[in-house]
Formats: sequence, structure tokens, C-alpha cells
Amino acid sequence: MDKLTFLVYSKSPETRTSIVEQLLTTDQVVVNATFTDLNSMSEALRLRRVDGIYLDLDEEPDETLASVASLAEPRPTILLGARDSDAGLLLSAMRIGAKDFFIDHRLTGVQKSLQSAQPMRQHSERAAPTLAIVGAKGGVGATTIACELGVSLQETGLRTIVCDLSRRLGDVALYFDLRPRYDMSDIVRREGELDAVFVDAVVAKHESQVSVLAAPTKLEDVTQLKSAKLDRVLKLLQDEYDVIILDVPWDFDEFSLRALDMSNEILIITNADVTSLTHARTRRQMIERFGALPERVHVVLNRASAEQSLAEKQVVEFLERDLDATIPDQPEVARKCTDEGVILRDLKEGRIMREAIVELRDRACEWCDLELPEQAEPTSRRKLIQKLRKAIRRN
Ligand SMILES: Nc1ncnc2c1ncn2[C@@H]1O[C@H](COP(=O)(O)OP(=O)(O)OP(=O)(O)O)[C@@H](O)[C@H]1O
Ligand SMILES: [Mg+2]
Repeated sequence: MDKLTFLVYSKSPETRTSIVEQLLTTDQVVVNATFTDLNSMSEALRLRRVDGIYLDLDEEPDETLASVASLAEPRPTILLGARDSDAGLLLSAMRIGAKDFFIDHRLTGVQKSLQSAQPMRQHSERAAPTLAIVGAKGGVGATTIACELGVSLQETGLRTIVCDLSRRLGDVALYFDLRPRYDMSDIVRREGELDAVFVDAVVAKHESQVSVLAAPTKLEDVTQLKSAKLDRVLKLLQDEYDVIILDVPWDFDEFSLRALDMSNEILIITNADVTSLTHARTRRQMIERFGALPERVHVVLNRASAEQSLAEKQVVEFLERDLDATIPDQPEVARKCTDEGVILRDLKEGRIMREAIVELRDRACEWCDLELPEQAEPTSRRKLIQKLRKAIRRN
């Protein structure tokens, strides 16, 4: 039987982890995303269908209940919980049609509430779009963007995996502060046919619910990683997930070219200095020479600031094309993410950079034809600009 897809909302990291664990223990649920703020959750609910949600009412209970009260039918199964039982809260819970209310977030008997819940999700028939993130050169922020874009996509309820294709010991698991038991080495060493069950076991899960396929930890395994195995792994992942993000090493070899070849969209990450931009331009020409359609190759300027050596106008002139997205220079925030293993959404001061990532995510959804929220004014304008740019590029 298909498992039920759930979103979990709680401001407290401990409560969130405990709820996710208890839901997963039922073996009836997959948690698609967890949320710490109501707006992101409401947006995710608008974006796509899930079978159920769990809301922690410990903080701002009225706002939390209001965020689901207006959901259109058919509604997901609503499970609520709070530290204490409160008559007023229980009454409101009944009014909005919640299926159950768990005191102290102890999900005793949750299986029963799940029994009558029907999976609403329709499996998409197409292979998941694959986005390759590649730096113009080393250290421009490709891994940071790959990981944060992954979190942002997962937050919309899209099942997302970030694969570290680094052949020199990668950074994706480190970024997420994960120490996975398995990684690409296990795939390399596996003899015989790879199947979905095996690949599933190799994948790790971050607290945000984004999945991670970590790079090999031993250098001898790195050299053994062959393109044929990569093809097979990607095909399996494309059936299992809604979006795949590849953190592709910038030093091109046969392996990374194969990864780019298997991707639907390629994002070149650059900084605004002459060396990065020169490499970005060469890389773009090279990727296009290898057969990628120009409209599938995008350029993202990372670490943009008023003090950068070249102004944005000069960057565009240098690249001979428009930028597809810009991420601001936030050294303190980025350092915390990289060094302390926290993601942007868990950093108060990460808001500005996170907003830029969300904008990039929306654009990536457009490129991949992934369902977007109902057309709000700014998004439709962005869409028009995107179309206009495409038309200009084609001419
Ligand atoms: N927007 C940003 N503002 C400021 N610093 C940033 C930003 N993005 C990334 N950084 C910093 O740049 C450094 C390199 O980042 P990252 O590891 O993501 O780059 P990379 O391109 O993947 O590098 P590598 O070539 O080693 O794989 C890190 O210290 C990171 O914190
Ligand atoms: Mg990297």
C-alpha cells in the first residue's frame, strides 16, 4: 500500500524530531517536509497535495489553526498536538475537523487515526527533473546553493534528493551535519544489479526531510566510480523522487560530463570576479558544445554585493547574457551554515539569503515545469520576464 505523505509543523526542534520519529514508526507515513514557520507551511499546502499534516499548537495556536481552517476540500488528514489539554483548543480542533489531538505530542494510537486516511497523491509518470549545480571554479558556493536549493524544494512537499558527485571527498553530508552510515562507496562496491531497495538504504535523511546521497569517503572508491553506475543510480532516483539535485565537481572529467548529460537543467555558479566569470563563460560554451540546449544552461551569481569588483551590469556584459539568479554575499551567515552545520531556515540572520534561494527555487520550478503556487502577481511577472529573456536569447 502507498504510504501517506505528511507535513509536520513545530517551532521546537525537539518536538519536531519526536513527532517525525513517531509518525515514521507507524510505517504508514513518509514525512515530506518539516516546518518552523507558518507561512512556509501554508505555501507548501497551497503548492501541492499531501495526505496529512501534524500541527504543534504550543505556540500561536489560533494562527496555527487559522492556517488550515481555510484549506480547500478534499482536505488532508489533520492531526494536532499540544503540551497540555485545553478545552478551548480541543473545541477549535473539532471545529476545523481534526482527526485527533495528541496531548504532550505522544502519538499513542495514531495508527487508528491513519487507517481511514486515503492517499491523495497521484504518482507522476515522468522521470524526476534533474538539476546539476556546477561551480565556475572551486569555492564559489556551489555546494551551499545545491544544499539550500534542496531544502527549499523539499519544503514545497516535492521529494528532493541532493547527490554529492564529488570525486574528491564531498561536502554535502558535512553541510547537513550528517554522518551517513552509507555513501557512494557502497554503490561502487556493490556487485551485481543495483535496485531501488539498495539505493534507498544508502540514502540519508536530513531533519528538513531532504534526502542526501553522500560522496565516497575513501579516495580509492572515488576512482572506481564509473559512469555506467552513475546512470543506473540516477535512473532509480528519478523514479523515486520528484526532483534530483546534483552537486557536480567543477573540474570537468568524463564523469561530471556524464552527470551534466543526464541533467535537465544546468546551473553554473559564479562570483563576480574576473577569474570566476572567465571560467563561467568557458564552461557554458563547453557545456553547450557538448550538446546542452542554451536555454537549459543557467548562470547564478553568488556572493553578490555592492562592493564586488565588477558591477552587475559589467558581469552581464562579460558573460554576454543575463543572470538567471543572484544570491547576496552574506559571509557571516554562510560561514555559520558551512562551519556549524545549520541550514539557513534555522538561522534568524539567514532570512535575506534564504529569500534569494526561494526565488531561485521558483525559477527552477519554472524551468523544470514543476507545479508552482497559484499565480501571484510577482511570480507571473517573473514568468513573463523569463519568457522574454528566452525569446531574446533565441534571436
Ligand atoms: N552567498 C554567500 N555569501 C558568503 N559566503 C558564501 C556564500 N555562499 C557560499 N559562501 C562561502 O563560500 C565558501 C565555499 O562554499 P562552498 O563549499 O559551497 O563552495 P563550492 O563551490 O562547493 O566549493 P568546492 O569547489 O570546494 O566544492 C564557504 O566558506 C561558504 O560559506
Ligand atoms: Mg562543493
